[in-house]
Amino acid sequence: MSGLHVGIIMDGNGRWARLHGQPRWRGHFSGVESVRDAVRGSPELDITTLTLYAFSSDNWKRPAAEVGRLFWLLREYCGREQAELVESGVRVTAIGRRDRIPKSAREQLTLLEDATASLSRLHLRLAIDYSAQWAIADAARLLAVEVDRGRISPEDITAAKLNGVLTGGVPPVDLLIRTAGEQRLSDFLLWETAYAELWFTDVLWPDFRRRDLAEAVAAFRRRERKFGGLRPIPDDRPAKPAAERVAAR
Ligand code: IPE
Ligand code: IPE
Ligand code: MG
Repeated sequence: MSGLHVGIIMDGNGRWARLHGQPRWRGHFSGVESVRDAVRGSPELDITTLTLYAFSSDNWKRPAAEVGRLFWLLREYCGREQAELVESGVRVTAIGRRDRIPKSAREQLTLLEDATASLSRLHLRLAIDYSAQWAIADAARLLAVEVDRGRISPEDITAAKLNGVLTGGVPPVDLLIRTAGEQRLSDFLLWETAYAELWFTDVLWPDFRRRDLAEAVAAFRRRERKFGGLRPIPDDRPAKPAAERVAAR
């Protein structure tokens, strides 16, 4: 049976840097250690899919120097981590647009994806140049082409069908974590989080460690998920026949 799918909006790198009197990029740099620790800590928490929001399509609005540092970090991460990721059975894939990722980072990413393709202990998904709205529109466009070519009819476009095209069979998010105190989704996995439990923490991403991940998972385990149904409360059990009730007195 598959374990949990956890999504994390890794926020607060800039604030962490300011707090430590350092340039913003140092916050991103320190955030990589948090990624490492979250990945290492996931299997023991029964997390089998971990989706990390690394760069949103709206993050292109940031100064070119910061964007450049972020993709440099991505390239470094993909290169340096490969051996450990392979060793620990982590399969890495990326979601989001690829065509705008700088070539050297894209190539390292593809190498890492290829090197880890057969692994299955943990599926680490990196959301890069990612926009949930764009992803949903892209899936819709793909289905429209299928209709246009006469391969499917409009009636075939159901939520399940769109889900299949959009997610490629990756299970929905069980637990969505956002660090650094903001309580918004910022265009992350809008479809896949339909019934996700949300967990917000003030911890800034560079300070986030597996103990924080464990705390979030423990809170998740205490939640009651109903998916629109009713929880089975004891009083709902069918009443015992009268004779039995009398005998039990
Ligand atoms: C998150 O940290 C990392 C990315 C968005 C790439 P921020 O850079 O958004 O940090 P804050 O929100 O400015 O503190
Ligand atoms: C969301 O964080 C994107 C990532 C964590 C990669 P932002 O810091 O970009 O989001 P907003 O601008 O605060 O909504
Ligand atoms: Mg931010």
